[in-house]
Amino acid sequence: MTLWKGRFSVSPAQELMDFTESLSFDRLLWMEDIRGSIAHVKGLVHSGILTEEDGTILQDGLRSVANEIESDLFDFNAGDEDIHSAIERRLTELVGETGARLHTGRSRNDQIATDMRLYAKRAVLEIADELVALCRTLGDVAESSRDAYLPGYTHTQRAQPVLLSHHVLAHGWSLLRDLERLIETYRRLDVSPLGAGALGGSTLSLDPDFVAGELGFSRRFQNSLDVVSDRDFVAEILFDVALIGVHLSRIGEEFVLWSTEEFGYVRLDDAYSTGSSMLPHKKNPDIAELARGKSGRLIGNLMGLLTTLKGLPLSYNRDLQEDKEPLFDSVRQVSLALLAVRGMISTASFDFVAMRMAGDSEYLVAVDLAEYLVRQGMPFRKAHGIVGGLVRDAVERRVPLAELVSAHPLLGEVAVQLLEPQSAIARRVTAGGSGTEAVSDQLRAFSSELEAQQKVLSELR
Ligand code: ARG
Repeated sequence: MTLWKGRFSVSPAQELMDFTESLSFDRLLWMEDIRGSIAHVKGLVHSGILTEEDGTILQDGLRSVANEIESDLFDFNAGDEDIHSAIERRLTELVGETGARLHTGRSRNDQIATDMRLYAKRAVLEIADELVALCRTLGDVAESSRDAYLPGYTHTQRAQPVLLSHHVLAHGWSLLRDLERLIETYRRLDVSPLGAGALGGSTLSLDPDFVAGELGFSRRFQNSLDVVSDRDFVAEILFDVALIGVHLSRIGEEFVLWSTEEFGYVRLDDAYSTGSSMLPHKKNPDIAELARGKSGRLIGNLMGLLTTLKGLPLSYNRDLQEDKEPLFDSVRQVSLALLAVRGMISTASFDFVAMRMAGDSEYLVAVDLAEYLVRQGMPFRKAHGIVGGLVRDAVERRVPLAELVSAHPLLGEVAVQLLEPQSAIARRVTAGGSGTEAVSDQLRAFSSELEAQQKVLSELR
């Protein structure tokens, strides 16, 4: 049964119902919908629009509906258009004609906007908690691999030796920015739409500030037309989540590479790897691959919603119903991904020997030789040319670089000492760089930044 049949002479066509229904996906919002309705009832009583007695009947009825849904006893009807209709129908079955007073001064337009913001607040905090946990795991890996080093890469070519902790924290910082971004998104979306009605408010003396407070929103809407048509918050979450997905895809890609026999930097735990149905020896990094692969879908969800929103006239349009499936999907997928990636990383064992062997290539400290010459007063470009020439010679004649450095009049034995990668790392002095001391400072900064964000999160709750 629809909520709007009074205006129509015949029942809706089946094709219309099949095409326009949203119950199949918006039933996920039942808890938010009932919370919103209870606050609305309290608001109506508070404003003297409903008697205390009716208010109590409606609230008790709504709580019974909640119990039925929670314990799986609720019968969704084929004719229920959406979660709002299903709950109002059942409420009226339970409490009789008082149920018909529930929707006083309200539209499904402010109702769904309220449900979505309540859901979004919860979802954002859950994703934020998972991000914190993953950041902590990365911090632990960085902490426990203090001296381990490997080649840092640019263009996927070995470039300079870097500490493993420096590399791991690079991913950590990107996830910390994601956390900060989610917190900003949360603050912006924390607005109650309830009281906006269909689009222009009501002739009844509703109190939007009161219901905003009841629902734990920090403020109410300023413009009823805006708030029933605004889905910026959904787009923002989809962007935040898509970027988390992109960051996870980069971590995933490295784990795929690092777990190959060719790299051999990491061994995944059996519980976080998969096998082949045909090739008995295979051990595959499927979590890392799907962390990479799912980013496509997360980006797609964002593109889909932005395309739906583009060109919509004010205010509510049914197109806006298309906000739900992408949001629910992105929230679920990113939560699963964050958990799986965290499990994969926290159980992985890093092969420090394989990393060191790759990082010990003499060429990776070539720039240190050039900087040695710079310290003697030589212009950098000239020093770059001299060292580049030595590397070319070493490659072409297949001789160790150290031999050529030792024989060079401007370099010699002192410079040969510089070729040892571990000492090269210890020598690196730039703040925020991969030097031993700089990375210790960075680890401290990372933990304190993470703690600060966690504090902000607990204050939002
Ligand atoms: N299912 C709708 C949505 O998700 C609820 C609001 C319906 N409003 C309306 N005027 N038909 O947007």
